[in-house]
Amino acid sequence: MKWLKVARAKPFEFVCDQIASDKSISHRCAMFSLLSDRPSHIRNYLRAEDTLNTLEIVKQLGAEVEDDGDKLTITPPQKLKEPDNVLDCGNSGTAMRLFCGFLSALPGHYVLTGDKYLRRRPMKRVTKPLTQIGAKIDGREDGNLAPLSIRGEKLRSFQYESSIASAQVKSAMILAALRADGISTYREPELSRDHTERMLRGMGANIESWDTITIEPMRTPLEPLDITVPADPSSGFFFAVAAAIVPGSRVVIKDVTLNPTRIEAYQVLKKMGAKVELEQKEDRYEPIGDITITYNGPLQAVEVSERISWLIDELPALSIAMAVAEGESVVKNAEELRVKESDRISSVIHGLKACGITCSETDDGYRIQGGVIQSAEIDSYGDHRIAMSFAIAGLLADMTIKDIDCIETSFPNFIELLGRLTEVATWR
Ligand code: S3P
Repeated sequence: MKWLKVARAKPFEFVCDQIASDKSISHRCAMFSLLSDRPSHIRNYLRAEDTLNTLEIVKQLGAEVEDDGDKLTITPPQKLKEPDNVLDCGNSGTAMRLFCGFLSALPGHYVLTGDKYLRRRPMKRVTKPLTQIGAKIDGREDGNLAPLSIRGEKLRSFQYESSIASAQVKSAMILAALRADGISTYREPELSRDHTERMLRGMGANIESWDTITIEPMRTPLEPLDITVPADPSSGFFFAVAAAIVPGSRVVIKDVTLNPTRIEAYQVLKKMGAKVELEQKEDRYEPIGDITITYNGPLQAVEVSERISWLIDELPALSIAMAVAEGESVVKNAEELRVKESDRISSVIHGLKACGITCSETDDGYRIQGGVIQSAEIDSYGDHRIAMSFAIAGLLADMTIKDIDCIETSFPNFIELLGRLTEVATWR
């Protein structure tokens, strides 16, 4: 099991064009390329464990993948293949839930599995609505836990009102709707990240979204993708927090998606007092540009209770900013944190307590009294975002993080970049 030691940092200026490519968009690029009958071209595909697993599944379904180091060319087969082995989603809930929707309407038999963390995460949120429209999916605990076995079937169109704002549930249902027998509609309590709608529309699918999303089944294959995946704002956010808490620092995160459903955590950091500047440079599938974060004095406590799905992945890193802010910060309505790669309410609070911060769990979030972060030894609980968040805390007090292999799932060059920033990170 690998560990990481991070030592207190001096002020830094860091212009970074090597933040990991967006994970959500990369998964979708690989999967959606199968909806066309011509090759898709994808630059900057995220080469991390999660998205490489998705690419492997796409190959098992019959696609040819050519990688020239810079660009991936994914050529779909004339007819998707029934794979002769299980499809391993590794650590990725996105891959498993989206593939449930994608495969449910595709003739054949498929078994989706994943690592020990993913096999503990709830899948009923997609298997239940899919089963209601005719999908044949089974798994442990009445179809809730992977491995999941899917037998592709003709699906009925639907009018589905989801009780959670989840892009994974929404995307699974949209993918199913593309092959259903009529027009479907989907509603969610608040807009979740909308990459699926944007990308599929860019590929020519008839998807309208206002309060309700209306999806027409695809009558012919979609246009192929020609896309450069932007940097991942969730990965960039670790360095944003670093600049916001280390006096005298500044970081520029280059070529990142500025999709509003993805950058809410930066808005919260701004509300806490950091200087945050956005500069949009282009708009293709997604708005893309640079974000500059500059230390601007001590941060102030904040309450976060709205638009939770827009910053759910950044809450662990934001908790480090809350731990050094003046006053008590509160996170509410974030019960989804409990079913991420780890129970992130519990992982964050355990970690912060080890750092000497006064904080407590609630059912749907936590309360954090800002203070001084002390040197500690932290368990990542096998969760990449917990490992990276506490690595950033280490910039203020020496920190040892145990079990850091999980960082490979989303941000393989994180330690290298952190090392460049501090010149003090060591790992084994
Ligand atoms: C994702 C959606 C979010 C997010 C996850 C990626 C996606 O999950 O937390 O990291 O790519 O659709 P939920 O849809 O479960 O909220």
